[in-house]
Amino acid sequence: MKRKTAEQIQGAVQSQYERFPYPPPLDAISSEILEGNGFMMGCPSREFHIYWPSLPERRDLDILIAGCGSSQAVQDAYTLPEARFTAIDLSQTSIDNSKRLMAQHGVKNIEFHQMSLYDVEELGRDFDLIVSTGVIHHLPDPAAGLRALRKVLRRDGSMLLLLYGRYGRDSVYLFQQMFRLMGISGETVTEEQIAQMVDLVRNVPPTHPFHLRKDIYNDFRPAEIVDLYLHPQDVAYTVPEIYDLLAEAGLSMQRFIQQAPYVPRFSGLLGHPFYEKVDRMSDREQFAITELYRAGMYTHTFVACRDDRPEASYRIDFEGASFWKYVPRIRGTVNQSPRSDGRPGVEITVSGHGKFQTEILLDPAQVFLIGRMDGQKTVQDIVDELSEHHDGETARSFVMGALRDLWMFDVIAFQIPAVRSRPARKETTV
Ligand SMILES: C[S@@+](CC[C@H](N)C(=O)[O-])C[C@H]1O[C@@H](n2cnc3c(N)ncnc32)[C@H](O)[C@@H]1O
Repeated sequence: MKRKTAEQIQGAVQSQYERFPYPPPLDAISSEILEGNGFMMGCPSREFHIYWPSLPERRDLDILIAGCGSSQAVQDAYTLPEARFTAIDLSQTSIDNSKRLMAQHGVKNIEFHQMSLYDVEELGRDFDLIVSTGVIHHLPDPAAGLRALRKVLRRDGSMLLLLYGRYGRDSVYLFQQMFRLMGISGETVTEEQIAQMVDLVRNVPPTHPFHLRKDIYNDFRPAEIVDLYLHPQDVAYTVPEIYDLLAEAGLSMQRFIQQAPYVPRFSGLLGHPFYEKVDRMSDREQFAITELYRAGMYTHTFVACRDDRPEASYRIDFEGASFWKYVPRIRGTVNQSPRSDGRPGVEITVSGHGKFQTEILLDPAQVFLIGRMDGQKTVQDIVDELSEHHDGETARSFVMGALRDLWMFDVIAFQIPAVRSRPARKETTV
């Protein structure tokens, strides 16, 4: 079979999203977002310090949504009316759906352009934040796509990226290959064939990994079926492949938005005789091992930045002298309930851990610690309060250990002291 050129692939991707805009268009912004209780994963209206721990919070950001689909930009712009959004997509149908939603909800702060993200530099703009979720893995050359985005990212900016995860999509690639061999394609598929595909998928024999993933791939709407099983361009990534892709594009990994699912100590690996060895490895190696151990991660959502952004502006350093000046804050995705083992304290779960939800059990001292965090107090302030009841050294080591756990488990984020660096863009003087 003759291989398609990059242009033919782009054309096929575009026509698929013209015919089957994905995600399927919304009738309205979700009620949770409208009521102020919900927000998109990683939305800077709630998660500013995940991107910029060393900066005071601000909302007047310049944000690019690269591959905005039919609703993402509108929902984000609704939650962040002070920001200026630019949204681009190859599919005019998706843009039209977004514009309809925008008008319906009176959202004003988005400018749309139908274009490829490869050409984004033509807009002559630069951005504090670039959001590209579910897009880069559909490009003929993902590294070139990221390099194009890097050109319009400010030096102190961040990118929020979502890429497919390889191991949790095993069943998807078996189906893709099978339908390809059968000659079914997204460009010509009929409604009747889509219904027949659904029937086939639902009834594969018990040996098929689909049965392991049923709770993930449980949306059988036509746009979902076409996006999953007939996509003309779709690659998935392992943890090491993500790090390599970022390096190829001149980017660095800042962090996974929800990092606990990647951390060996929050998995069944803790307590195994091999754990001690794993615990001494680099983050990248530890995350890769947990991914292999869990074997079901189907997406990776993470924050990246330019490789010339000073690491001190985003690295959380528990060993450094400035740790005591950090300000810990509870993140918005945390749920507390009584401990399932009946002991005093609380059980914490984090919504974003999804399928890999694990719980962390806090004892009353840790609950007390959480109660001390008011978004203003530094770590040292909290230690000082505890030192009224315990000797200073005990208080220091308890606070450091507990905060490290809470941070690793995605319960808290830190604001860290400002980092002096060459200004990345012109400052306006008032
Ligand atoms: C799976 S959808 C994700 C939409 C949105 N980011 C979200 O998370 O809801 C992928 C979108 O990327 C767009 N897309 C694919 N290749 C693109 C490119 N080279 N430039 C701009 N948009 C592209 C598609 O048209 C489609 O709307």
